[in-house]
Amino acid sequence: MKILITGSNGLLGQKIVQQCIHHSIDFCATSKGSNRNPDCPNDVYVELDITSEESVSSVFKSYRPTHVIHTAAMTNVDQCEIQPDACKKMNTEAVEIVFRASKALNAHFQLLSTDFVFDGLKGDYSEDDVVNPLSEYAKSKVEAEQILLSDANKNWSIARTIIVYGEGHHLTRSNIVLWAVEALRKGDPLNIVDDQFRAMV
Ligand SMILES: NC(=O)c1ccc[n+]([C@@H]2O[C@H](COP(=O)([O-])OP(=O)(O)OC[C@H]3O[C@@H](n4cnc5c(N)ncnc54)[C@H](OP(=O)(O)O)[C@@H]3O)[C@@H](O)[C@H]2O)c1
Repeated sequence: MKILITGSNGLLGQKIVQQCIHHSIDFCATSKGSNRNPDCPNDVYVELDITSEESVSSVFKSYRPTHVIHTAAMTNVDQCEIQPDACKKMNTEAVEIVFRASKALNAHFQLLSTDFVFDGLKGDYSEDDVVNPLSEYAKSKVEAEQILLSDANKNWSIARTIIVYGEGHHLTRSNIVLWAVEALRKGDPLNIVDDQFRAMV
């Protein structure tokens, strides 16, 4: 097994790198810009902008993964509302690029999606429930899912994660735990919504 990880500088990407090292799995970590994860050796890191088909194709041809875990995304939901075109380019069009490169090598492609594909009205969703995305971010993820669902090649999987949180190195985005810890350290009050319910499995 040879795993190629996209978005390895991100929170989930860093955790997957950690697991690959822990289980002695052959992996290639890729992300935009230089390696910001000190736990990831530089010799298994390749700088890769997933919106560039040429770069994706070149890295895939060189490493030849058997499995691809696609975590890279524009994950700031508010920013996606402000820049819907950039959101679509990153979260939908780039998925098509990375999926195409995976198919060319018959590598399994795993897409990281989100519970935001649902509108939240029903709750307690199963994977067969009808999606109804409400935000640009959610729409871009649903469209990415559709690329896989409508393809004749079924060598893929979709993980719809819910609230990814925790510590990481040089993260460009905060998360609920980091935000709460920082506020508590400063002695700031925590203003937390009490009308949102998230499902955990
Ligand atoms: N966080 C959540 O609560 C949550 C919930 C549901 C689903 N998800 C999904 O789970 C996945 C991982 O989330 P996460 O929290 O780990 O996200 P994250 O920390 O924001 O990581 C995403 C990574 O993608 C990288 N990236 C951005 N543009 C890129 C490009 N053009 N080429 C290559 N890499 C690029 C980012 O680089 P920089 O660090 O340099 O910006 C970042 O390291 C995402 O697909 C997200 O949509 C997350």
